[in-house]
Amino acid sequence: MKEKILVTGGAGYIGSHTAVELQNAGYEVVILDNLSNSNIEVIDGIERITGIRPAFVEMDMQDKAKLQQLFEDHPNIKGVINFAASKAVGESVKKPLLYYRNNLVTLMNLLDLMPQYGVEGLVFSSSCTVYGQPDRMPVDETAPIKPAMSPYGNTKQICEEIITDTVHAGAPFRSILLRYFNPVGAHPSAEIGELPLGVPQNLLPYVTQTAIGIREQLSVFGDDYDTPDGSCIRDYIYVVDLAKAHVKAIERMLEKKNAEPVEVFNLGTGRGVSVLELIKIFEETTGVKLNYKIVGRREGDITQVWANPEKANRVLGWKAEASLADTLASAWKWQLHLREKGIM
Ligand code: NAD
Ligand code: UFG
Repeated sequence: MKEKILVTGGAGYIGSHTAVELQNAGYEVVILDNLSNSNIEVIDGIERITGIRPAFVEMDMQDKAKLQQLFEDHPNIKGVINFAASKAVGESVKKPLLYYRNNLVTLMNLLDLMPQYGVEGLVFSSSCTVYGQPDRMPVDETAPIKPAMSPYGNTKQICEEIITDTVHAGAPFRSILLRYFNPVGAHPSAEIGELPLGVPQNLLPYVTQTAIGIREQLSVFGDDYDTPDGSCIRDYIYVVDLAKAHVKAIERMLEKKNAEPVEVFNLGTGRGVSVLELIKIFEETTGVKLNYKIVGRREGDITQVWANPEKANRVLGWKAEASLADTLASAWKWQLHLREKGIM
């Protein structure tokens, strides 16, 4: 068994897929989650896929004493991947303090305690949202950070700065900041996937819920953007590929291969896909006709963003591999699984 890794927010969407890949790579996984946006059954799913049940601690990471107890109870944690955060952009506009408190306090508690317990590396979940609407495409890691469009986006920028300042001030660990583009899809086993609470805000869950009849119609937010078909362009990355990048990042830090104490990587495919293209590929792949209509633009949406993932390809030795068709098929399989189980 390799080193012990703490996965905060590990019952969530990206965290659960990462726990699977860490266990597949031989790491011992401890998951911490308060289940505010996830479900305990996810731990069963991870066990069914990997044959190993990860340790699970239900706790709120804002509670520093409980976090300290976790480090006492699980000695020799060598690396932490910090997924725990609140992530709904719209909600963050309405409840900014909830977002600033949850996303910043949890991180600061972690940064305070890591040195005491000999943790050597921290992987942080950041977002391409830090680039806003980039001036040039594809966007690489040197692109300027633009003023955040929401309190959520601002927490990602501030968290990146908090980590960088802490490491530069001499904290005895390294960090890798991963800027995700648009994570989509589910594990091919359909044992784990994305479980949006309520009406989905993101495109793909809305697509699959419309396709299965939970939602009547998908609204496409605008076809008058300055893009080839007028709809917005994003870089949709398969969540299992994304999860594998975290394993590479952990390996890199624990093997002390970092070029800098804090490194930043874009995680995307390098391919921009429009909303209308995605719908077409979904229909072709699944054979399901989607009921959608073009409506007005959604406030705050940027026109287009896709990654230059060359640095992650070259330095991390990681590449997004899945095709978009396979990725969309995995999301559809997950939606069908939820129906079969009577969950949705
Ligand atoms: P998610 O909501 O599915 O997972 C986050 C998990 O953290 C949830 O299980 C939640 O219960 C838990 N959590 C939240 N606050 C907590 C706290 N105080 N204590 C303990 N657990 C807590 O979200 P996700 O999509 O898996 O995202 C994971 C990370 O990646 C987040 O930091 C998110 O901001 C970031 N990210 C996500 C996307 C995306 O599109 N999904 C894009 C860029 C970055
Ligand atoms: N869209 C629709 N209809 C919908 C939902 C979305 O047309 O019902 C469109 C949006 O207008 C956008 C595209 O689909 O053009 C993607 O929208 P998402 O909401 O799925 O994703 P975003 O790119 O807006 O934002 C997501 C996360 C952010 C994160 C960002 C980058 O919500 O938290 O990806 O990682 F910061």
